[in-house]
Amino acid sequence: MKLLVVGGGGREHAIIKKLKENPAVKEIFALPGNGGIARDATCVDIAATDLDGVANFAKENMIDYAVVAPDDPLVLGLVDLLSDIGIPCFGPNKAAAIIEGSKAFSKELMKKYNIPTAKYEIFSDINKAFNYVSKQKMPIVIKADGLALGKGVIIAETYDEAKIAIKSMMEDKVFGDSGNNIVIEEFLTGPEVSVLSFTDGKTVKPMISSMDHKRALDGDLGLNTGGMGTIAPNPYYTDEIAERCMEEIFIPSMEAMNSEGRTFKGCLYFGLMLTEDGPKVIEYNCRFGDPETQVVLPLLKSDLLEIMQAVTEERLAECEVEFADQNACCLVIASGGYPVRYNKGYEIDIKGDIDNLYFAGAALNDGKLLTSGGRVLGITAIADSLKGAIDKAYEQAKYVDFKDAYYRKDIGARALKALEE
Ligand code: AMP
Ligand code: GLY
Repeated sequence: MKLLVVGGGGREHAIIKKLKENPAVKEIFALPGNGGIARDATCVDIAATDLDGVANFAKENMIDYAVVAPDDPLVLGLVDLLSDIGIPCFGPNKAAAIIEGSKAFSKELMKKYNIPTAKYEIFSDINKAFNYVSKQKMPIVIKADGLALGKGVIIAETYDEAKIAIKSMMEDKVFGDSGNNIVIEEFLTGPEVSVLSFTDGKTVKPMISSMDHKRALDGDLGLNTGGMGTIAPNPYYTDEIAERCMEEIFIPSMEAMNSEGRTFKGCLYFGLMLTEDGPKVIEYNCRFGDPETQVVLPLLKSDLLEIMQAVTEERLAECEVEFADQNACCLVIASGGYPVRYNKGYEIDIKGDIDNLYFAGAALNDGKLLTSGGRVLGITAIADSLKGAIDKAYEQAKYVDFKDAYYRKDIGARALKALEE
């Protein structure tokens, strides 16, 4: 089989490595992939958002199955385009991808179908938004409606901060049209859990839970990033909570999308907060999370391609989705200065054996691997205990060498503490 994976980060590298475990897979093309992914797939320089470019490539190369991983091509409708030309794909169509593409849509969906989430109001008028926040308790959460590279959420501690956030989104348009509408919502507290799930609109099968570490610095300080590391499973996510999430959130979300005529087929990501009032949805993503995928897929025992095809063909119910009874820890190694300002073009040297190495910001130049982005690579270690996985990941991180390489030193520390309590 000839496969196509759209995207070019650590998540896509993890997907590609897992797909390659199926012996029927003869070739994988990554569009655009990256210099590190080129070790495992044929990378072709076509942007994930160049929908016609991707579709033409898929047709010309007689692709048997395509996986669309990033949010923007999904929200733009790449799956619709590929399906129309007869290429089976993994990923939601445009009508369903709106669950991530518009926060206003997802909040209205949850309200309509009684899915637990933070209380909120939606605004298209800046003065009404100012007026509303002036009467609310602080902190308060301001969210741009549309996609904003994971940066469209601001937690304001004071009324002035809230006003600045609203103005930046609605007037200064720092996120472009994504800030035409904003969601203002109640600030929730509690441990956060990421649950990725496979769903074909009939069945939902959650994957192993995980915990992201979004802030740049140790102790959850500094700016928000795309994610600096993950662990799985998430110790806060007990069997009892999992059962409750299935009943109160996962199945109702799938059914809500069906009722809206927007059946979701693909990976539906639940960003959850475990509050004192029970689990609540912080966000939906219409795709695999990154770097969550880098801990979840290495623990998957079942065949990824078979599961994906079962989702496309709406026979997920009969398909096994099994995870190893082990723990994983992923460390993201970034360019010093990320997420603000950083240099690119430094040579990457890998000095020892790393169990699972996933490249994100790496480019090939004259046979040399050079840094080309903020998050350069992820390394994932697996062990029987969480502590074992964390220790092994930090041991293997020493094998990665490039100028100004930076990684957090406390990935998994909070989870370990939770296990001890
Ligand atoms: P998002 O981009 O929607 O994942 O939000 C980024 C981060 O902002 C989340 O992971 C949470 O830590 C935080 N966040 C979002 N919404 C809320 C909320 N209602 N209350 C508290 N924290 C929130
Ligand atoms: N790690 C969070 C995300 O993929 O959006």
